[in-house]
Amino acid sequence: MDLNEPLPLLGGLSATRFMRRHWQKKPLLVRQAWPDAVPPLSRAALFDLAGRDDVESRLVQQQAGRWQVRQGPLPRRALPPAGRPGWTLLVQGLDLHVPAAHAMLSRFAFLPRARLDDLMLSWASDTGGVGPHLDSYDVFLLQVQGHRRWRVGPCLRPGQAAWQPGLPLKILRDFEPLHDWVLAPGDMLYLPPGWGHDGVAVGGDCMTCSVGFRAPTPGALAAELLQRLADEQDDEDLTRAAARGGQALYRDPGQPATATPGAVPPALQAFARQAVSRLLAAPQALERALGEVLTEPKPQVWFAAGADADARQGVRLAAATRMAYDARHVYINGESFRAGGRDARLMRQLADTQALAARDCARLSPPARALMQDWLDSGWLLPGASPGEGQQAGCSAPVGPGSLT
Ligand code: SIN
Ligand code: CO
Repeated sequence: MDLNEPLPLLGGLSATRFMRRHWQKKPLLVRQAWPDAVPPLSRAALFDLAGRDDVESRLVQQQAGRWQVRQGPLPRRALPPAGRPGWTLLVQGLDLHVPAAHAMLSRFAFLPRARLDDLMLSWASDTGGVGPHLDSYDVFLLQVQGHRRWRVGPCLRPGQAAWQPGLPLKILRDFEPLHDWVLAPGDMLYLPPGWGHDGVAVGGDCMTCSVGFRAPTPGALAAELLQRLADEQDDEDLTRAAARGGQALYRDPGQPATATPGAVPPALQAFARQAVSRLLAAPQALERALGEVLTEPKPQVWFAAGADADARQGVRLAAATRMAYDARHVYINGESFRAGGRDARLMRQLADTQALAARDCARLSPPARALMQDWLDSGWLLPGASPGEGQQAGCSAPVGPGSLT
């Protein structure tokens, strides 16, 4: 991908310019960003998907000025008639279930995939929407069917936003839009986190794809990292203690009798300090934990074991597989592997482009090829470097409309 080439998707800006001028800074409206964009699946198929318990969905309705939210799974009978105004169905993680939705993400490959969350598709009847709100995400809102009016307010810092009380969803109390745009199919709006926005369907049968990029809070990321490091440390300590026939516990055989039982023993404070600091003591411990956390598959994801697949036809990542790398490791679905030399180069290529051609698979060392076979057997990789190639077992359907690969 040429990062300096002007892209219709970004209104004629190159990826480099877009990142400098807009990313995390200010919204961008692009008319006909994706002129031939079509919904990655039909309304009926979306409604069916919302009924599945491995798919995250929400129904938001406004009736007589009252907001109602129902979390999925949503059987068809839970959804109002399509002709009734004022409701919307939102289905998260469409890229995990619908190959055409997954293929749409390839247009956003100028952004680090570690930031990508998912592609959500909403369907709305006339006037349907979720009310004025903020997201903590960077989001590209692509209109794929019908029309939606977007009103966009200023960026609100944490603490500046006030919410309407007593509602089942977070709706901004004082929403003062700066922009008012009606998006037609093919139009796209980029919004950085914190910008108030309100999208209302105009005329019904409105479908909007949201490609969201997560931005963790320091606390949430630290909690995930430390939990992972602590679990690993515990396993290691337990194995070591078991080998000695002992237990990996805080011990205080020297504790004297105390007249101040409320006081925290200094030895316990020292033990706590040491327990936390040793989590980060190993070189690269934090980087490794980060790579594992970032590639952890989403909850509810499962992989269909690959039947008799081998890497001779090349491989590609299954839709739910997350792969990343840093200077020393390759990460896939929450696991880390040390890699160097040509193997590391080829694995990085697989992580960047999500596929590895047959001739490149053949250049891997025998241990790296064995690893790749394990990933194929687990369904993390699919045979064939592009959809439609290779065996069909465990493969997703061919890429549908709306894709550009
Ligand atoms: C929608 O598609 O209706 C909601 C998307 C959003 O506002 O984030
Ligand atoms: Co939003």
